[in-house]
Amino acid sequence: MTSGIRVAVYGAYGHTGRFVVAELQERGFVPVLSGRDADKLKALAAETGLEARPASVGDPASLDGMSAGTAAVINCAGPFAATAAPLIETALRVGIPYVDVAAEIEAVADTFAQFADRARESDALIVPAMAFFGGLGDLLITTAMGDWTAADEAHIAYGLSSWHPTAGTRAAGAVSRERRDGRGVRYRNGRLEYHQDDLPTLEWPFPAPMGPRAVIGEFTMADVVTVPSHLSIPDVRTYMAADAARDIAAPDTPAPVAADRFGRSGQTFLVDAVVRSGTRERRAVAGGRDIYAVTAPLAVEALDRILTGRTKATGVASAGEIFDAPDFLRALSPHITLEQRP
Ligand SMILES: NC(=O)c1ccc[n+]([C@@H]2O[C@H](COP(=O)([O-])OP(=O)(O)OC[C@H]3O[C@@H](n4cnc5c(N)ncnc54)[C@H](OP(=O)(O)O)[C@@H]3O)[C@@H](O)[C@H]2O)c1
Repeated sequence: MTSGIRVAVYGAYGHTGRFVVAELQERGFVPVLSGRDADKLKALAAETGLEARPASVGDPASLDGMSAGTAAVINCAGPFAATAAPLIETALRVGIPYVDVAAEIEAVADTFAQFADRARESDALIVPAMAFFGGLGDLLITTAMGDWTAADEAHIAYGLSSWHPTAGTRAAGAVSRERRDGRGVRYRNGRLEYHQDDLPTLEWPFPAPMGPRAVIGEFTMADVVTVPSHLSIPDVRTYMAADAARDIAAPDTPAPVAADRFGRSGQTFLVDAVVRSGTRERRAVAGGRDIYAVTAPLAVEALDRILTGRTKATGVASAGEIFDAPDFLRALSPHITLEQRP
């Protein structure tokens, strides 16, 4: 039973944080609202009737105070280059699991590199990128793999109808671009590599009803860290619908606007995940609405499974490694539709 269990949400008043708070409440958890801005927290506390505990990543004592009496922490405050390490240090110190929604490739890779040993030694659970990018793709690839233990290639094509980014997405993108010094990044031959090549445009055969659509190849997302963290696949590639890539590149694309009673925007997605081994191919496809909103059921389902012992690993682990991937995805219906082929 998870009812009444307190969960700290850092970045609670952000766009994604609010969806996570609502999903936790929906499932009977008691969110403890946290973040660096006391006024924004106070406003959210007044709106929700929940407790607010301001805390700053530069002040470990405040983060310990945020975590006191909670069973876990979900970090929704990005750029994660700034927030992940201090919050993971707190989770390890206090002895609670940590889940974040990072999409930044380098920040997720840093979480594995910096904390894998310590987390394993202390039997802790740290789950980065437990979100639309990084988490869902990993769950789909793991599902598609079925009984395969290795594959030659993994491809994840993101069929987003549009992409109206939040301020947090733009800030995270800016931090990642700066870290890459103008270069692109991709995963080839079993490692991340940086390059100066132009990104190709190609047609991706999305299943009906979307059908074939122009995508940008090597539009690399956090799945290139999460998938190879536990699956033996030397070549992992991600693709983005060309229209959505144009949206996110344009400086004047507006932030998402609520279009239903859950606060979801009108954006829809189809994520087509394919694994290839020799001439054989397996596929898992997910559909749904609003990549920010759907991050909440992904993160909260993860938390629920962690707190009820439905996990397969300890240490720093991605969604596909730590959970029963097909079971996890089926549990997310109706937020996510799942189709497997063959
Ligand atoms: N992997 C995915 O699929 C996925 C999905 C959703 C979101 N995300 C990521 O989650 C992050 C938040 O996105 P969002 O849509 O919620 O954006 P948002 O609405 O702009 O919220 C950003 C949140 O992060 C906080 N924050 C930023 N820098 C901070 C710092 N140094 N210390 C403490 N708090 C800080 C902000 O607090 P202030 O208002 O006080 O600045 C705010 O609460 C982004 O990095 C985004 O890329 C990833």
